[in-house]
Amino acid sequence: MKKFLFSVLFMCAAVSMTAERADYRIIPLPKSVQTDSTQVFTLCSGMGIAYDAADPEVSRNVQFLRQWVEELTGVKLALTPDDKKAAVQFTLGLATDRKVKKSKKRQPAPQLTAQQEEAYTIDVTKDGIQLRARKPIGFFRAAQTLRKSLPLAVKGQTLASVDFPYTQIQDEPRFGYRGVMLDCARHFFAVDVIKQYIDVMALHGCNQLHWHLTEDQGWRFEVKALPELAKQGQWREQTVLGHNTGVYDGQRYGGYYTQEQCRELVNYAAERYINIIPEIDLPGHMMGALHVFPNLGCTGGPYPVWPHWGVSREVLCPGNPETMTFLKTVVGELCDVFPSKFIHIGGDECPKERWKNCQKCQEKAKELGLQDDGKHSIENQLQTWVNHQMEAFLSERGRDMIGWDEVLEGGLTENGIVMSWRGVNGGIEAAKQHHRVIMTPTTFCYIDYYQLKDHYRQPDAIGGYLPVSKVYSFEPLLPDQLSEEEQQYILGPQVNLWTEYVAFPQHVFFMLLPRLDAISEVQWCRSDQKDFEDFKVRLPHMKQIYDRMGVTYCRDIE
Ligand code: ACM
Ligand code: ZN
Repeated sequence: MKKFLFSVLFMCAAVSMTAERADYRIIPLPKSVQTDSTQVFTLCSGMGIAYDAADPEVSRNVQFLRQWVEELTGVKLALTPDDKKAAVQFTLGLATDRKVKKSKKRQPAPQLTAQQEEAYTIDVTKDGIQLRARKPIGFFRAAQTLRKSLPLAVKGQTLASVDFPYTQIQDEPRFGYRGVMLDCARHFFAVDVIKQYIDVMALHGCNQLHWHLTEDQGWRFEVKALPELAKQGQWREQTVLGHNTGVYDGQRYGGYYTQEQCRELVNYAAERYINIIPEIDLPGHMMGALHVFPNLGCTGGPYPVWPHWGVSREVLCPGNPETMTFLKTVVGELCDVFPSKFIHIGGDECPKERWKNCQKCQEKAKELGLQDDGKHSIENQLQTWVNHQMEAFLSERGRDMIGWDEVLEGGLTENGIVMSWRGVNGGIEAAKQHHRVIMTPTTFCYIDYYQLKDHYRQPDAIGGYLPVSKVYSFEPLLPDQLSEEEQQYILGPQVNLWTEYVAFPQHVFFMLLPRLDAISEVQWCRSDQKDFEDFKVRLPHMKQIYDRMGVTYCRDIE
Protein backbone atom coordinates (compact mmCIF):
# COMPACT_ATOMS: atom_id res chain seq x y z
CA MET A 1 0.00 0.00 0.00
CA LYS A 2 2.78 2.38 0.97
CA LYS A 3 4.55 1.65 -2.24
CA PHE A 4 1.36 2.34 -4.19
CA LEU A 5 0.77 5.68 -2.45
CA PHE A 6 4.37 6.65 -3.01
CA SER A 7 4.11 5.92 -6.70
CA VAL A 8 0.90 7.99 -6.97
CA LEU A 9 2.57 10.91 -5.22
CA PHE A 10 5.61 10.52 -7.38
CA MET A 11 3.52 10.51 -10.55
CA CYS A 12 1.67 13.68 -9.55
CA ALA A 13 4.86 15.41 -8.48
CA ALA A 14 6.83 14.45 -11.54
CA VAL A 15 4.35 15.98 -13.93
CA SER A 16 2.89 18.80 -11.91
CA MET A 17 4.02 21.35 -14.47
CA THR A 18 1.40 20.07 -16.89
CA ALA A 19 -1.57 20.04 -14.50
CA GLU A 20 -4.66 21.80 -15.72
CA ARG A 21 -7.31 23.42 -13.59
CA ALA A 22 -10.92 22.56 -12.96
CA ASP A 23 -13.40 25.42 -13.24
CA TYR A 24 -16.69 25.09 -11.37
CA ARG A 25 -18.43 27.88 -13.30
CA ILE A 26 -20.50 25.49 -15.36
CA ILE A 27 -23.95 25.34 -16.97
CA PRO A 28 -26.37 25.25 -15.26
CA LEU A 29 -24.62 27.21 -12.54
CA PRO A 30 -24.83 25.58 -9.08
CA LYS A 31 -26.76 27.40 -6.38
CA SER A 32 -23.67 28.35 -4.41
CA VAL A 33 -19.98 28.04 -5.30
CA GLN A 34 -17.33 29.39 -2.93
CA THR A 35 -13.89 28.85 -4.35
CA ASP A 36 -10.43 29.66 -3.02
CA SER A 37 -8.35 29.72 -6.18
CA THR A 38 -5.09 30.09 -4.26
CA GLN A 39 -5.07 26.45 -3.16
CA VAL A 40 -5.63 23.26 -5.09
CA PHE A 41 -6.03 19.56 -4.62
CA THR A 42 -4.24 17.66 -7.37
CA LEU A 43 -5.92 14.59 -8.78
CA CYS A 44 -4.05 12.10 -10.90
CA SER A 45 -4.25 8.56 -12.23
CA GLY A 46 -4.18 5.78 -9.68
CA MET A 47 -5.97 7.77 -7.00
CA GLY A 48 -9.09 6.16 -5.60
CA ILE A 49 -12.81 6.67 -5.15
CA ALA A 50 -14.38 5.53 -1.88
CA TYR A 51 -18.09 4.69 -1.75
CA ASP A 52 -20.61 2.17 -0.49
CA ALA A 53 -20.04 -0.71 -2.88
CA ALA A 54 -23.03 -2.57 -1.43
CA ASP A 55 -25.34 0.04 -2.95
CA PRO A 56 -25.70 -0.61 -6.70
CA GLU A 57 -27.19 2.82 -7.39
CA VAL A 58 -24.29 4.58 -5.70
CA SER A 59 -21.84 2.27 -7.47
CA ARG A 60 -23.37 3.16 -10.84
CA ASN A 61 -22.88 6.85 -10.18
CA VAL A 62 -19.29 6.24 -9.13
CA GLN A 63 -18.75 4.44 -12.44
CA PHE A 64 -20.23 7.38 -14.32
CA LEU A 65 -17.82 9.80 -12.66
CA ARG A 66 -14.87 7.51 -13.25
CA GLN A 67 -15.80 7.14 -16.93
CA TRP A 68 -16.28 10.89 -17.46
CA VAL A 69 -13.01 11.80 -15.77
CA GLU A 70 -11.17 9.36 -18.00
CA GLU A 71 -12.99 10.43 -21.18
CA LEU A 72 -12.28 14.11 -20.71
CA THR A 73 -8.87 14.13 -19.03
CA GLY A 74 -7.38 10.67 -19.50
CA VAL A 75 -6.95 10.44 -15.72
CA LYS A 76 -7.84 6.92 -14.56
CA LEU A 77 -9.21 6.64 -11.05
CA ALA A 78 -9.24 3.43 -9.06
CA LEU A 79 -12.25 2.00 -7.23
CA THR A 80 -11.27 1.78 -3.56
CA PRO A 81 -14.63 1.44 -1.76
CA ASP A 82 -13.31 1.16 1.78
CA ASP A 83 -10.40 3.56 1.64
CA LYS A 84 -11.20 6.34 4.13
CA LYS A 85 -8.28 8.32 2.71
CA ALA A 86 -9.26 8.00 -0.95
CA ALA A 87 -8.94 11.19 -2.99
CA VAL A 88 -12.62 11.14 -3.96
CA GLN A 89 -15.26 10.28 -1.36
CA PHE A 90 -18.95 9.59 -1.97
CA THR A 91 -20.78 10.04 1.34
CA LEU A 92 -24.53 9.71 1.84
CA GLY A 93 -26.11 12.42 3.99
CA LEU A 94 -25.61 16.16 3.90
CA ALA A 95 -23.53 17.76 6.63
CA THR A 96 -26.23 20.41 7.16
CA ASP A 97 -28.91 17.74 7.73
CA ARG A 98 -26.81 16.22 10.49
CA LYS A 99 -26.60 19.53 12.31
CA VAL A 100 -30.39 19.91 12.16
CA LYS A 101 -30.85 16.36 13.44
CA LYS A 102 -28.57 16.99 16.41
CA SER A 103 -30.26 20.19 17.46
CA LYS A 104 -33.87 19.02 17.04
CA LYS A 105 -33.69 15.44 18.13
CA ARG A 106 -37.39 14.80 18.76
CA GLN A 107 -38.76 16.47 15.66
CA PRO A 108 -39.98 14.22 12.83
CA ALA A 109 -37.91 14.45 9.66
CA PRO A 110 -39.45 17.11 7.39
CA GLN A 111 -40.90 15.94 4.08
CA LEU A 112 -38.40 16.64 1.33
CA THR A 113 -39.38 18.30 -1.93
CA ALA A 114 -38.26 16.63 -5.15
CA GLN A 115 -35.64 19.34 -5.47
CA GLN A 116 -34.31 18.75 -1.95
CA GLU A 117 -33.94 15.06 -2.74
CA GLU A 118 -31.54 16.02 -5.54
CA ALA A 119 -29.39 18.22 -3.32
CA TYR A 120 -25.66 17.63 -3.08
CA THR A 121 -22.49 19.30 -1.89
CA ILE A 122 -18.94 19.10 -3.13
CA ASP A 123 -16.03 20.07 -0.89
CA VAL A 124 -12.50 20.23 -2.18
CA THR A 125 -9.86 20.51 0.52
CA LYS A 126 -6.32 19.33 1.10
CA ASP A 127 -7.79 15.88 1.79
CA GLY A 128 -9.45 15.53 -1.58
CA ILE A 129 -12.85 15.82 -3.18
CA GLN A 130 -15.86 14.97 -1.07
CA LEU A 131 -19.27 14.49 -2.66
CA ARG A 132 -22.21 14.39 -0.30
CA ALA A 133 -25.84 13.74 -1.23
CA ARG A 134 -29.13 12.97 0.48
CA LYS A 135 -29.96 10.34 -2.12
CA PRO A 136 -27.98 8.61 -4.88
CA ILE A 137 -29.57 11.00 -7.39
CA GLY A 138 -27.59 13.78 -5.71
CA PHE A 139 -24.37 11.88 -6.47
CA PHE A 140 -25.34 11.82 -10.12
CA ARG A 141 -25.86 15.60 -10.08
CA ALA A 142 -22.57 16.11 -8.24
CA ALA A 143 -20.72 13.85 -10.67
CA GLN A 144 -22.14 15.82 -13.60
CA THR A 145 -20.94 19.05 -11.96
CA LEU A 146 -17.43 17.66 -11.59
CA ARG A 147 -17.54 16.36 -15.17
CA LYS A 148 -18.42 19.80 -16.52
CA SER A 149 -15.74 21.41 -14.34
CA LEU A 150 -12.94 19.31 -15.79
CA PRO A 151 -10.27 20.69 -18.08
CA LEU A 152 -10.16 18.74 -21.33
CA ALA A 153 -7.14 16.89 -22.59
CA VAL A 154 -6.47 16.99 -26.31
CA LYS A 155 -8.45 14.06 -27.73
CA GLY A 156 -6.51 10.81 -27.37
CA GLN A 157 -4.04 12.38 -24.94
CA THR A 158 -3.91 12.33 -21.17
CA LEU A 159 -3.53 15.12 -18.67
CA ALA A 160 -0.87 14.34 -16.12
CA SER A 161 -3.16 15.58 -13.37
CA VAL A 162 -6.02 17.94 -12.64
CA ASP A 163 -5.81 20.74 -10.10
CA PHE A 164 -9.09 21.26 -8.26
CA PRO A 165 -9.17 24.65 -6.53
CA TYR A 166 -10.48 24.40 -2.99
CA THR A 167 -14.21 24.92 -3.05
CA GLN A 168 -17.53 24.46 -1.31
CA ILE A 169 -20.41 23.84 -3.67
CA GLN A 170 -24.01 23.56 -2.51
CA ASP A 171 -26.61 22.80 -5.08
CA GLU A 172 -30.18 21.82 -5.75
CA PRO A 173 -32.50 22.66 -8.66
CA ARG A 174 -35.09 25.43 -8.65
CA PHE A 175 -37.86 23.43 -10.36
CA GLY A 176 -38.82 19.80 -9.79
CA TYR A 177 -39.93 19.40 -13.42
CA ARG A 178 -37.25 20.14 -16.03
CA GLY A 179 -38.53 18.93 -19.37
CA VAL A 180 -37.49 18.53 -22.97
CA MET A 181 -39.82 17.27 -25.69
CA LEU A 182 -38.79 15.32 -28.78
CA ASP A 183 -41.17 14.67 -31.66
CA CYS A 184 -40.29 11.27 -33.10
CA ALA A 185 -43.45 11.08 -35.17
CA ARG A 186 -42.89 13.70 -37.89
CA HIS A 187 -39.43 12.21 -38.22
CA PHE A 188 -38.26 8.98 -36.68
CA PHE A 189 -34.99 8.80 -34.76
CA ALA A 190 -33.16 5.58 -33.91
CA VAL A 191 -32.89 4.35 -30.33
CA ASP A 192 -29.20 5.31 -30.20
CA VAL A 193 -30.02 8.89 -31.15
CA ILE A 194 -32.57 9.08 -28.35
CA LYS A 195 -29.95 7.72 -25.94
CA GLN A 196 -27.64 10.52 -27.01
CA TYR A 197 -30.49 13.00 -26.52
CA ILE A 198 -30.96 11.60 -23.01
CA ASP A 199 -27.21 11.92 -22.32
CA VAL A 200 -27.28 15.55 -23.36
CA MET A 201 -30.38 16.19 -21.24
CA ALA A 202 -28.72 14.56 -18.23
CA LEU A 203 -25.63 16.70 -18.74
CA HIS A 204 -27.90 19.71 -18.23
CA GLY A 205 -29.76 18.35 -15.20
CA CYS A 206 -33.04 17.85 -17.09
CA ASN A 207 -35.27 15.11 -15.70
CA GLN A 208 -38.31 14.68 -17.98
CA LEU A 209 -38.21 13.51 -21.60
CA HIS A 210 -41.60 14.14 -23.15
CA TRP A 211 -41.71 11.70 -26.05
CA HIS A 212 -44.19 12.58 -28.82
CA LEU A 213 -44.96 9.24 -30.45
CA THR A 214 -47.96 9.54 -32.74
CA GLU A 215 -48.98 11.92 -35.45
CA ASP A 216 -50.87 12.54 -38.67
CA GLN A 217 -47.57 11.75 -40.38
CA GLY A 218 -46.90 8.40 -38.71
CA TRP A 219 -47.66 6.07 -35.80
CA ARG A 220 -44.51 5.05 -33.90
CA PHE A 221 -45.58 2.99 -30.85
CA GLU A 222 -46.08 -0.76 -31.07
CA VAL A 223 -49.43 -1.90 -29.63
CA LYS A 224 -49.40 -5.66 -29.26
CA ALA A 225 -53.19 -6.04 -29.26
CA LEU A 226 -53.33 -4.06 -32.53
CA PRO A 227 -50.30 -5.28 -34.49
CA GLU A 228 -51.36 -3.58 -37.73
CA LEU A 229 -51.41 -0.16 -36.08
CA ALA A 230 -47.65 0.42 -36.07
CA LYS A 231 -46.91 -1.96 -38.94
CA GLN A 232 -49.07 0.03 -41.35
CA GLY A 233 -49.51 3.33 -39.53
CA GLN A 234 -45.76 4.03 -39.51
CA TRP A 235 -45.62 4.53 -43.29
CA ARG A 236 -46.25 7.70 -45.20
CA GLU A 237 -45.92 7.23 -48.92
CA GLN A 238 -43.85 10.38 -49.38
CA THR A 239 -42.92 13.64 -47.70
CA VAL A 240 -43.51 17.15 -48.93
CA LEU A 241 -40.44 19.25 -49.71
CA GLY A 242 -40.01 22.55 -47.88
CA HIS A 243 -43.00 24.40 -46.48
CA ASN A 244 -45.90 22.48 -48.06
CA THR A 245 -44.62 23.34 -51.54
CA GLY A 246 -46.84 20.77 -53.23
CA VAL A 247 -43.68 19.00 -54.42
CA TYR A 248 -43.06 15.59 -52.81
CA ASP A 249 -39.91 13.49 -52.48
CA GLY A 250 -41.49 10.22 -53.66
CA GLN A 251 -39.79 8.30 -50.82
CA ARG A 252 -41.70 5.98 -48.52
CA TYR A 253 -40.86 6.95 -44.93
CA GLY A 254 -41.46 5.02 -41.71
CA GLY A 255 -40.20 3.57 -38.47
CA TYR A 256 -41.65 2.65 -35.11
CA TYR A 257 -40.46 1.64 -31.65
CA THR A 258 -41.12 -1.86 -30.38
CA GLN A 259 -42.20 -2.14 -26.77
CA GLU A 260 -38.88 -3.79 -26.03
CA GLN A 261 -37.03 -0.76 -27.40
CA CYS A 262 -39.28 1.56 -25.39
CA ARG A 263 -38.46 -0.38 -22.21
CA GLU A 264 -34.78 -0.26 -23.04
CA LEU A 265 -35.02 3.52 -23.32
CA VAL A 266 -37.04 3.80 -20.11
CA ASN A 267 -34.25 1.96 -18.27
CA TYR A 268 -31.47 3.89 -19.96
CA ALA A 269 -33.17 7.17 -19.03
CA ALA A 270 -33.91 6.03 -15.46
CA GLU A 271 -30.23 5.28 -14.86
CA ARG A 272 -29.64 8.91 -15.74
CA TYR A 273 -32.53 10.10 -13.55
CA ILE A 274 -34.74 10.97 -16.48
CA ASN A 275 -38.38 9.95 -16.62
CA ILE A 276 -39.92 9.37 -20.04
CA ILE A 277 -43.41 10.80 -20.43
CA PRO A 278 -44.96 9.22 -23.51
CA GLU A 279 -47.54 11.12 -25.54
CA ILE A 280 -50.33 9.62 -27.60
CA ASP A 281 -51.86 12.70 -29.20
CA LEU A 282 -55.66 12.38 -29.19
CA PRO A 283 -58.30 12.87 -30.51
CA GLY A 284 -56.65 15.00 -33.25
CA HIS A 285 -53.30 14.34 -34.96
CA MET A 286 -54.54 10.80 -35.58
CA MET A 287 -54.15 10.19 -39.32
CA GLY A 288 -51.57 7.48 -38.64
CA ALA A 289 -54.20 5.48 -36.74
CA LEU A 290 -57.14 6.48 -38.96
CA HIS A 291 -55.30 5.12 -41.97
CA VAL A 292 -55.29 1.69 -40.32
CA PHE A 293 -58.73 1.95 -38.65
CA PRO A 294 -60.85 4.24 -40.85
CA ASN A 295 -63.99 3.20 -38.95
CA LEU A 296 -62.73 5.36 -36.06
CA GLY A 297 -63.18 8.58 -38.10
CA CYS A 298 -66.45 10.49 -38.51
CA THR A 299 -66.53 10.01 -42.32
CA GLY A 300 -65.19 6.47 -42.47
CA GLY A 301 -62.25 7.45 -44.68
CA PRO A 302 -60.20 6.30 -46.49
CA TYR A 303 -57.43 8.29 -44.80
CA PRO A 304 -53.79 8.52 -45.94
CA VAL A 305 -50.95 8.86 -43.45
CA TRP A 306 -50.27 12.52 -44.13
CA PRO A 307 -47.35 13.32 -46.44
CA HIS A 308 -47.38 17.06 -45.56
CA TRP A 309 -47.53 19.33 -42.51
CA GLY A 310 -50.30 21.20 -40.75
CA VAL A 311 -53.47 20.38 -38.83
CA SER A 312 -55.82 17.76 -40.24
CA ARG A 313 -59.58 18.20 -39.94
CA GLU A 314 -59.89 14.40 -39.89
CA VAL A 315 -59.88 13.34 -36.24
CA LEU A 316 -61.18 10.46 -34.13
CA CYS A 317 -64.97 10.17 -33.80
CA PRO A 318 -65.92 10.22 -30.10
CA GLY A 319 -69.48 9.28 -31.04
CA ASN A 320 -68.26 5.82 -32.02
CA PRO A 321 -67.91 3.58 -28.93
CA GLU A 322 -65.10 1.70 -30.69
CA THR A 323 -63.01 4.87 -30.46
CA MET A 324 -62.85 4.76 -26.67
CA THR A 325 -62.13 1.02 -26.76
CA PHE A 326 -59.27 1.72 -29.18
CA LEU A 327 -57.86 4.53 -27.02
CA LYS A 328 -58.01 2.46 -23.85
CA THR A 329 -56.24 -0.42 -25.56
CA VAL A 330 -53.47 1.90 -26.76
CA VAL A 331 -53.09 3.89 -23.55
CA GLY A 332 -53.35 0.71 -21.47
CA GLU A 333 -50.32 -0.75 -23.24
CA LEU A 334 -48.58 2.60 -22.98
CA CYS A 335 -49.00 2.42 -19.19
CA ASP A 336 -47.64 -1.13 -19.19
CA VAL A 337 -44.47 -0.02 -20.95
CA PHE A 338 -43.88 3.40 -19.38
CA PRO A 339 -43.88 3.61 -15.57
CA SER A 340 -44.17 7.42 -15.70
CA LYS A 341 -46.61 8.97 -13.20
CA PHE A 342 -47.48 11.47 -15.94
CA ILE A 343 -48.99 10.31 -19.24
CA HIS A 344 -49.58 12.85 -22.03
CA ILE A 345 -52.78 12.57 -24.05
CA GLY A 346 -52.13 15.53 -26.38
CA GLY A 347 -55.46 17.23 -26.91
CA ASP A 348 -54.09 20.02 -29.11
CA GLU A 349 -55.33 21.21 -32.49
CA CYS A 350 -58.47 19.10 -32.83
CA PRO A 351 -60.72 20.82 -35.38
CA LYS A 352 -64.39 20.27 -34.61
CA GLU A 353 -65.79 20.56 -38.13
CA ARG A 354 -66.29 16.79 -38.55
CA TRP A 355 -67.91 16.43 -35.11
CA LYS A 356 -70.38 19.23 -35.87
CA ASN A 357 -71.63 17.33 -38.91
CA CYS A 358 -71.40 13.78 -37.58
CA GLN A 359 -74.61 12.09 -36.52
CA LYS A 360 -72.81 9.80 -34.07
CA CYS A 361 -70.99 12.71 -32.43
CA GLN A 362 -74.14 14.79 -32.12
CA GLU A 363 -76.06 11.85 -30.67
CA LYS A 364 -73.30 11.31 -28.14
CA ALA A 365 -73.43 14.99 -27.17
CA LYS A 366 -77.21 14.72 -26.70
CA GLU A 367 -76.87 11.55 -24.63
CA LEU A 368 -74.36 13.38 -22.41
CA GLY A 369 -76.69 16.38 -22.15
CA LEU A 370 -74.05 18.78 -23.46
CA GLN A 371 -75.22 22.31 -24.15
CA ASP A 372 -73.43 25.40 -25.35
CA ASP A 373 -73.06 27.54 -22.21
CA GLY A 374 -71.64 30.52 -24.06
CA LYS A 375 -68.15 29.73 -22.79
CA HIS A 376 -67.73 26.14 -23.94
CA SER A 377 -69.16 24.87 -27.23
CA ILE A 378 -70.85 21.46 -27.39
CA GLU A 379 -67.94 20.06 -29.36
CA ASN A 380 -65.31 21.42 -26.95
CA GLN A 381 -67.25 19.79 -24.13
CA LEU A 382 -67.31 16.58 -26.13
CA GLN A 383 -63.51 16.70 -26.16
CA THR A 384 -63.56 17.26 -22.40
CA TRP A 385 -65.72 14.14 -22.11
CA VAL A 386 -63.00 12.20 -23.99
CA ASN A 387 -60.41 13.71 -21.64
CA HIS A 388 -62.51 12.69 -18.63
CA GLN A 389 -62.62 9.11 -19.89
CA MET A 390 -58.87 9.07 -20.32
CA GLU A 391 -58.22 10.74 -16.99
CA ALA A 392 -60.37 8.16 -15.16
CA PHE A 393 -58.70 5.34 -17.07
CA LEU A 394 -55.24 6.66 -16.16
CA SER A 395 -56.24 7.34 -12.58
CA GLU A 396 -57.20 3.66 -12.14
CA ARG A 397 -53.61 2.91 -13.08
CA GLY A 398 -52.23 5.47 -10.66
CA ARG A 399 -51.29 7.93 -13.39
CA ASP A 400 -51.94 11.63 -13.93
CA MET A 401 -52.98 13.06 -17.28
CA ILE A 402 -51.17 15.89 -19.05
CA GLY A 403 -52.82 17.72 -21.94
CA TRP A 404 -51.86 20.65 -24.16
CA ASP A 405 -53.65 23.85 -23.13
CA GLU A 406 -56.61 23.20 -25.47
CA VAL A 407 -57.84 20.85 -22.72
CA LEU A 408 -59.03 24.04 -20.97
CA GLU A 409 -61.44 24.89 -23.76
CA GLY A 410 -64.22 22.49 -22.85
CA GLY A 411 -63.65 22.87 -19.11
CA LEU A 412 -60.70 21.17 -17.44
CA THR A 413 -60.98 17.71 -15.89
CA GLU A 414 -60.42 17.38 -12.10
CA ASN A 415 -56.74 16.45 -12.04
CA GLY A 416 -55.52 17.33 -15.52
CA ILE A 417 -52.09 18.93 -15.80
CA VAL A 418 -51.93 21.70 -18.38
CA MET A 419 -49.02 22.10 -20.75
CA SER A 420 -49.23 25.76 -21.67
CA TRP A 421 -47.93 26.21 -25.21
CA ARG A 422 -50.01 28.94 -26.90
CA GLY A 423 -48.38 31.55 -24.70
CA VAL A 424 -48.62 31.55 -20.92
CA ASN A 425 -52.30 32.42 -20.55
CA GLY A 426 -53.48 28.80 -20.47
CA GLY A 427 -50.98 28.16 -17.71
CA ILE A 428 -52.11 31.21 -15.78
CA GLU A 429 -55.77 30.21 -16.06
CA ALA A 430 -54.98 26.65 -14.94
CA ALA A 431 -52.78 27.76 -12.01
CA LYS A 432 -55.52 30.12 -10.84
CA GLN A 433 -57.87 27.12 -10.87
CA HIS A 434 -55.25 25.26 -8.79
CA HIS A 435 -54.24 22.90 -11.56
CA ARG A 436 -50.67 21.88 -12.11
CA VAL A 437 -48.93 23.50 -15.08
CA ILE A 438 -45.91 22.91 -17.27
CA MET A 439 -44.78 26.09 -18.97
CA THR A 440 -43.71 25.71 -22.59
CA PRO A 441 -44.91 28.82 -24.45
CA THR A 442 -43.95 29.06 -28.12
CA THR A 443 -42.37 32.50 -27.56
CA PHE A 444 -39.66 31.14 -25.23
CA CYS A 445 -39.65 27.36 -25.58
CA TYR A 446 -40.25 26.27 -29.19
CA ILE A 447 -36.82 25.22 -30.35
CA ASP A 448 -38.14 24.22 -33.77
CA TYR A 449 -38.03 27.98 -34.52
CA TYR A 450 -35.04 29.65 -36.19
CA GLN A 451 -32.32 30.53 -33.72
CA LEU A 452 -30.47 33.05 -35.89
CA LYS A 453 -31.96 36.11 -37.61
CA ASP A 454 -30.30 35.31 -40.90
CA HIS A 455 -32.08 32.28 -42.36
CA TYR A 456 -29.19 31.53 -44.71
CA ARG A 457 -26.90 30.66 -41.79
CA GLN A 458 -29.04 27.75 -40.59
CA PRO A 459 -31.16 24.94 -42.01
CA ASP A 460 -34.79 25.50 -42.92
CA ALA A 461 -37.01 25.74 -39.83
CA ILE A 462 -40.73 25.99 -39.24
CA GLY A 463 -40.57 29.78 -38.82
CA GLY A 464 -40.43 32.19 -35.87
CA TYR A 465 -37.27 33.44 -34.21
CA LEU A 466 -36.12 32.06 -30.87
CA PRO A 467 -32.52 33.00 -30.13
CA VAL A 468 -30.64 31.65 -27.12
CA SER A 469 -30.98 35.00 -25.34
CA LYS A 470 -34.78 34.85 -25.56
CA VAL A 471 -34.90 31.31 -24.13
CA TYR A 472 -32.59 32.49 -21.36
CA SER A 473 -34.88 35.41 -20.46
CA PHE A 474 -37.89 33.21 -19.65
CA GLU A 475 -39.35 33.48 -16.15
CA PRO A 476 -41.84 30.62 -15.74
CA LEU A 477 -43.37 31.74 -12.43
CA LEU A 478 -44.77 34.99 -13.88
CA PRO A 479 -44.65 36.89 -10.57
CA ASP A 480 -46.56 39.83 -12.09
CA GLN A 481 -49.54 37.62 -12.89
CA LEU A 482 -49.51 34.85 -10.30
CA SER A 483 -49.60 35.07 -6.52
CA GLU A 484 -47.03 33.11 -4.56
CA GLU A 485 -49.67 30.51 -3.80
CA GLU A 486 -50.61 30.18 -7.48
CA GLN A 487 -46.94 29.90 -8.46
CA GLN A 488 -46.79 26.64 -6.50
CA TYR A 489 -48.79 25.04 -9.31
CA ILE A 490 -46.09 25.72 -11.90
CA LEU A 491 -44.16 22.46 -11.96
CA GLY A 492 -41.48 23.81 -14.27
CA PRO A 493 -40.50 24.78 -17.82
CA GLN A 494 -39.90 22.63 -20.89
CA VAL A 495 -38.55 23.18 -24.41
CA ASN A 496 -40.15 21.42 -27.37
CA LEU A 497 -38.47 20.11 -30.48
CA TRP A 498 -41.01 19.44 -33.23
CA THR A 499 -39.44 17.79 -36.21
CA GLU A 500 -41.39 18.59 -39.39
CA TYR A 501 -38.19 20.21 -40.70
CA VAL A 502 -35.69 18.18 -38.69
CA ALA A 503 -34.99 14.85 -40.37
CA PHE A 504 -31.45 13.97 -39.27
CA PRO A 505 -29.76 13.48 -35.88
CA GLN A 506 -27.15 16.20 -36.42
CA HIS A 507 -29.96 18.63 -37.06
CA VAL A 508 -31.72 17.53 -33.86
CA PHE A 509 -28.68 18.53 -31.81
CA PHE A 510 -28.14 21.70 -33.83
CA MET A 511 -31.65 22.81 -32.85
CA LEU A 512 -31.25 21.68 -29.24
CA LEU A 513 -27.85 23.18 -28.47
CA PRO A 514 -27.12 25.63 -27.07
CA ARG A 515 -30.75 26.57 -26.46
CA LEU A 516 -30.86 23.68 -23.99
CA ASP A 517 -28.06 25.38 -22.07
CA ALA A 518 -30.26 28.46 -21.79
CA ILE A 519 -33.37 26.61 -20.62
CA SER A 520 -31.29 24.55 -18.22
CA GLU A 521 -30.45 27.72 -16.30
CA VAL A 522 -34.13 28.71 -16.36
CA GLN A 523 -34.95 25.26 -14.97
CA TRP A 524 -32.14 24.96 -12.46
CA CYS A 525 -31.06 28.41 -11.27
CA ARG A 526 -32.82 30.98 -9.14
CA SER A 527 -33.88 33.94 -11.25
CA ASP A 528 -31.50 36.29 -9.38
CA GLN A 529 -28.54 34.07 -10.36
CA LYS A 530 -29.16 34.44 -14.07
CA ASP A 531 -26.85 36.70 -16.09
CA PHE A 532 -26.73 36.25 -19.86
CA GLU A 533 -23.29 37.88 -20.27
CA ASP A 534 -21.83 35.53 -17.69
CA PHE A 535 -23.66 32.58 -19.30
CA LYS A 536 -21.94 33.39 -22.61
CA VAL A 537 -18.56 33.22 -20.89
CA ARG A 538 -19.37 29.76 -19.53
CA LEU A 539 -20.74 28.39 -22.80
CA PRO A 540 -17.53 27.69 -24.80
CA HIS A 541 -16.47 24.99 -22.35
CA MET A 542 -19.82 23.24 -22.83
CA LYS A 543 -19.21 23.32 -26.57
CA GLN A 544 -15.91 21.54 -26.05
CA ILE A 545 -17.78 18.83 -24.18
CA TYR A 546 -20.29 18.54 -27.04
CA ASP A 547 -17.39 18.12 -29.46
CA ARG A 548 -16.08 15.34 -27.26
CA MET A 549 -19.51 13.71 -27.05
CA GLY A 550 -19.81 13.88 -30.82
CA VAL A 551 -22.95 16.00 -30.88
CA THR A 552 -23.28 19.07 -33.02
CA TYR A 553 -24.61 22.49 -31.96
CA CYS A 554 -25.26 25.91 -33.36
CA ARG A 555 -21.94 27.73 -33.22
CA ASP A 556 -23.38 31.25 -33.16
CA ILE A 557 -25.61 32.64 -30.50
CA GLU A 558 -27.91 35.63 -30.61
C1 ACM B 1 -48.45 22.06 -30.34
O1 ACM B 1 -47.45 22.72 -30.60
N1 ACM B 1 -49.33 21.77 -31.28
C2 ACM B 1 -48.71 21.57 -29.00
ZN1 ZN C 1 -68.09 11.59 -35.23
